[in-house]
Amino acid sequence: MTNKNRQILVTSALPYANGAIHLGHMLEYIQTDIWARFQRSQGHECYFAWADDAHGTPVMLWARAEGKTPEELIDMMNEQHKTDFRDFGISFDNYSSTHSEYNRELVELIYGRLDQNGYIERRPVEQFYDEEEGMFLPDRFIRGTCPKCGTQDQYGDSCESCGSTYSPTDLIDPHSAVTGSKPVMKASEHYFVRLGDFEDALKDWIASGALQSEISNKLQEWFTDGLRDWDISRDEPYFGFRIPGTEDKYFYVWVDAPVGYMASFKELCVKKGLDFEAWWGKDSNAEVHHFIGKDIVYFHTLFWPAMLMGANMRTPTAVYAHGFLTVDGAKMSKSRGTFISARTYLDHLHPDYLRYYYAAKLGPGTGDIDLNLEDFVLRVNSDVVGKVVNIASRCAGFIGRQFDGKLSDSLHRPELFQQFVEARAGIAADFEERNYQSAVRRIMKLADEANRYIDEEKPWLQIKEEGKKAHVHEVCTQGINLFSILMSYLSPVLPFTAERAGAFLNRDVSVWRNIDKPLLGVTVNTFQPLLTRVDPLKVNAVIEASKESLKPAKSASSAPAGPVIEPLAAEITIDDFLKLDLRVARIVKAEAIPEADKLLRLTLDIGNETRIVFAGIKSAYNAAQLEGRLTVMVANLKPRKMRFGTSEGMVLAAGPGGKDLFILEPGEGATPGMRVT
Ligand code: MSP
Ligand code: ZN
Repeated sequence: MTNKNRQILVTSALPYANGAIHLGHMLEYIQTDIWARFQRSQGHECYFAWADDAHGTPVMLWARAEGKTPEELIDMMNEQHKTDFRDFGISFDNYSSTHSEYNRELVELIYGRLDQNGYIERRPVEQFYDEEEGMFLPDRFIRGTCPKCGTQDQYGDSCESCGSTYSPTDLIDPHSAVTGSKPVMKASEHYFVRLGDFEDALKDWIASGALQSEISNKLQEWFTDGLRDWDISRDEPYFGFRIPGTEDKYFYVWVDAPVGYMASFKELCVKKGLDFEAWWGKDSNAEVHHFIGKDIVYFHTLFWPAMLMGANMRTPTAVYAHGFLTVDGAKMSKSRGTFISARTYLDHLHPDYLRYYYAAKLGPGTGDIDLNLEDFVLRVNSDVVGKVVNIASRCAGFIGRQFDGKLSDSLHRPELFQQFVEARAGIAADFEERNYQSAVRRIMKLADEANRYIDEEKPWLQIKEEGKKAHVHEVCTQGINLFSILMSYLSPVLPFTAERAGAFLNRDVSVWRNIDKPLLGVTVNTFQPLLTRVDPLKVNAVIEASKESLKPAKSASSAPAGPVIEPLAAEITIDDFLKLDLRVARIVKAEAIPEADKLLRLTLDIGNETRIVFAGIKSAYNAAQLEGRLTVMVANLKPRKMRFGTSEGMVLAAGPGGKDLFILEPGEGATPGMRVT
């Protein structure tokens, strides 16, 4: 074990203030927390400081929609997030908001230095402007037809149908997602950071070993493509910090978000009397480690270090990216109930279960991690409850009943104890390198050995034999001591269980320095079950509670047809009927909308054009099984704006609803575009 005491600041990416924390976020926050707790267990001075990412257009629009101030909303979310994190055992030392005075000051300081040092450039930019709302539109708030494949209702920066990326001005028929109006081009002055100026310094920083190899390879590609200037200003109205010296310009949210790491730490320094400069000053010996998801690598490995370099400040020691969470092999989905909020999980299940499962799966790389719910139950029950906690349960009863809670004065097998102690270096190295799955494997191997030892000694039989009492005392003391070491090793992963184990053992198991000193001749407390098995029914309850509640579908295309006994509508004439433009359509693409439990998004070919129709038939069809099939659509239905886009028609289906819903399919010989009469 290293004796040198390190000073370590750890951060996680700041969650956006406009949404609830879900189990995808928790993957990162648990990963970070395990590392922070591990560092503290080694005796290092380690702080974990982070915050909510409060600024940006979405919060501003949300506040308008709610008739509240952004401050009211972000305060409320901050409380919620903080409570979620606490209840998951995240041991943050400070949790702040990017909308703080500390942050404003630091942002202004960094920007001021960048400007002084000549890294800021100003030039006009033409952008889409929503005249109705009086605002420039971020790419994500512009929708239109993809210039590459013609799919309608796509975002301003990329097409969900063909995957191509483009600039919003390339969109055909662009419209504002805020008001639906047609935006106009308008120029305004923007502020840029000249990123290219930092290319050499960034390369040096990367060569210092701050990044995982897969990430530094990615960066080489970006360097080859050339570093473009970074646009750091946004025009009014915007929820953020105003750029000094301007009336109506704000820092882009990604400028003040990473500075939020620093600001939250500064707040902590004030609270705790720490020396901020010793950590963030240019010549600091302290370490700064950022944990992030792989989607935000660009911001943390180019923009953020460049800002620090340009402001003459220290750069991060390391940035670690992790992969994305899937649940049962697929992206989290509201309709399947796998988009699980932190709170819903906590309503039913113990936080240590999830912490253990994530640890067992997390490696040092950027691969995605799957939460397989069946495996989750099996794994936690067999490893944590069946192996580790069981060691204590098997020995504690004897110690309590036969020996008044007092441990023996010597161990039965000191060399086995020593072997457990010596595993420390390997396990510590694994935690340090974020190879938690390897650490967990080593720990579980030890747990197997401890159980094998107890199986061989069979204290429950020996206690009945004449003259074996002292031996049983030593055996159970041995078992308790092996358990104590295992709980120390697991303490970064299972803080709640470790705390309870510590209360039983009268020892702070989270300190690894003491593990080589066995507990002998001391009294332990009455044993309480430390952690119960995962109840699969509770896992089901989480899924059920996470399912988007079944709202009555308002979409025209999903109105149940009902049994045709009574006429459903008033009588019409043949002329009325002929007003319907019914066409044969080929379903060229069918996609499930994860956020909607009834809707499929269909791309329909009707001969000389393509239509997007949202059909309420998800309960009856898999998206994949529809592709290529023919159906019938109402082609002259007035387009309807829906939550997920505009529906340009309606497909015909029969049946009462649910699973019993059948799209109409023309027989052989029909071709897309044919009129149906
Ligand atoms: N606000 C920015 C980060 C600013 S840091 C200066 C942001 N927020 S976020 O709420 O979208 O994501 C916060 C973190 O959670 C990111 O690191 C992101 O990668 C991570 N995750 C969000 N969803 C995730 C999964 N489904 N799986 C794993 N991590 C995920 O980005
Ligand atoms: Zn496209």
